[in-house]
Amino acid sequence: MRYSRVHIKEAAEFIQGKISIQPAVGLILGSGLGVIAEEIQNAVSIDYENIPHFPVSTVEGHAGKLIIGVLNEKPVVVMAGRFHLYEGHEPEKVSFPIRVMKELGVGTILVTNAAGGVNESYDPGDLMVIKDHINLMFKNPLVGPNDPELGLRFPDMSTAYDPELRDLAKQVAREQGFSLREGVYAAVLGPSYETPAEIRMIRTLGGDAVGMSTVPEVIVARHAGIRVLGISCISNMAAGILPQPLSHEEVMETAERVKEKFIGLVKGILDRL
Ligand code: 6GU
Repeated sequence: MRYSRVHIKEAAEFIQGKISIQPAVGLILGSGLGVIAEEIQNAVSIDYENIPHFPVSTVEGHAGKLIIGVLNEKPVVVMAGRFHLYEGHEPEKVSFPIRVMKELGVGTILVTNAAGGVNESYDPGDLMVIKDHINLMFKNPLVGPNDPELGLRFPDMSTAYDPELRDLAKQVAREQGFSLREGVYAAVLGPSYETPAEIRMIRTLGGDAVGMSTVPEVIVARHAGIRVLGISCISNMAAGILPQPLSHEEVMETAERVKEKFIGLVKGILDRL
């Protein structure tokens, strides 16, 4: 099924009927990073399943609701839980909430995720500003007829991750006493983690971190003219680097361990947007 402006407007109008502010910033919270949602003031929380045309997420650790409210004095719309291609959703379905955010008035999004460290100098618990991505999902949410009202047929991706926002994030981290990594996020379909050979390939191709999300949302955000800042929480090292196997538990544990740092960073960035 293709989404049209009608679907986007129906979803946005449903949400607007429940809120009294206009969100300017969108936040997409990755695995285990949902804690920030608890910090939102005057929060209006809407389950995805109640929003017209929204998909419903199925992953553990992903709450599945849209929260609109105020965070550090900024009106925000937060996705606590996102959609993944590995759940079986079409790429345009995964990125539909971004279209709705645009319709609500969002001009900037902060996309977060948990990712495996491919760069061997990284450590679990590091936060990485996404400098660029490699789409190894080989799927694109813009496939199909293009609605010129929504964006260009061939949108530019040369500065998909806004250089000014990247600098801002690095500066905020410095002021808070830690440094951010900056690297390339390689997105794969999942849901199985990669083999060691695939991780060597991704490293050779220039990937620093690997994950199963973010890219569809970022492509749609850029198509819609939304500025993007991406931050990965390096939750574990990718396959073949350390002797132990990978697990979703480790992903969640690391996210839990870095949450204070992560919340501080996000709030610090919001302050300066
Ligand atoms: Cl190692 N791979 C992928 N694809 N996603 C991840 C991950 C690894 N670690 C956290 N998320």
